[in-house]
Amino acid sequence: MPTPNAAAMEFLLTRRSRPAKTLTGPAPDDAALLPILTAASRTPDHGKLEPWRFVVLKGAALARLAAEVEATGAALGKSAEDIAKARGAFADSPLCVAVIEVQKDSPKIPALEQTYSAGAVCLALLNAALASGWGANWLSGWASHDRGFMSRALGLADNERITGFVHIGTETSVPPDRPRPDLAQITTWVSE
Ligand SMILES: Cc1cc2nc3c(=O)[nH]c(=O)nc-3n(C[C@H](O)[C@H](O)[C@H](O)COP(=O)(O)O)c2cc1C
Repeated sequence: MPTPNAAAMEFLLTRRSRPAKTLTGPAPDDAALLPILTAASRTPDHGKLEPWRFVVLKGAALARLAAEVEATGAALGKSAEDIAKARGAFADSPLCVAVIEVQKDSPKIPALEQTYSAGAVCLALLNAALASGWGANWLSGWASHDRGFMSRALGLADNERITGFVHIGTETSVPPDRPRPDLAQITTWVSE
């Protein structure tokens, strides 16, 4: 039998996000964030295309994104309530890492596989932050799908898009677990 990594399995079997609105400061400083980003970049990536990158947002950058979300919401005709909620996600965030999918031209690797890899980076980043003792939450939101927002707020190129915003900070409460999938419903065992 293989030798289990009991601590890693215990983490994976019990991990759960901390809602972004319950996070406060301090956030990890650059030195604390580096191993978390490094762990996230150790993500399966077909063809070694590295079809993703990080934008670390803190301080005034978060205030600027909050203002950009507000302007985007107004342009999209969102309600005042929707805009306030989306704005608060940045204005109140201790620190946010935007995971950016960067589509690379490849004769071999389909675009969808690059998208999968970028999603996997978000989970790896979330888990590395949680495993380091921080509270963390993966959010998207309507602004993250808006091309104008992507370009104005983060300067993304046409081959880039926002995969997710991973908010990281100090947890103020541990939420109760949410219902988890019934394995029997989602698993088919095939042996012949
Ligand atoms: C791609 C993606 C986008 C998400 N965007 C949001 C969001 O905008 N707002 C929200 O409340 N939750 C969002 N969620 C869900 C949160 O991340 C939620 O905390 C998570 O499902 C909890 O999972 P866990 O308890 O297994 O960590 C998103 C999840 C994913 C995978």
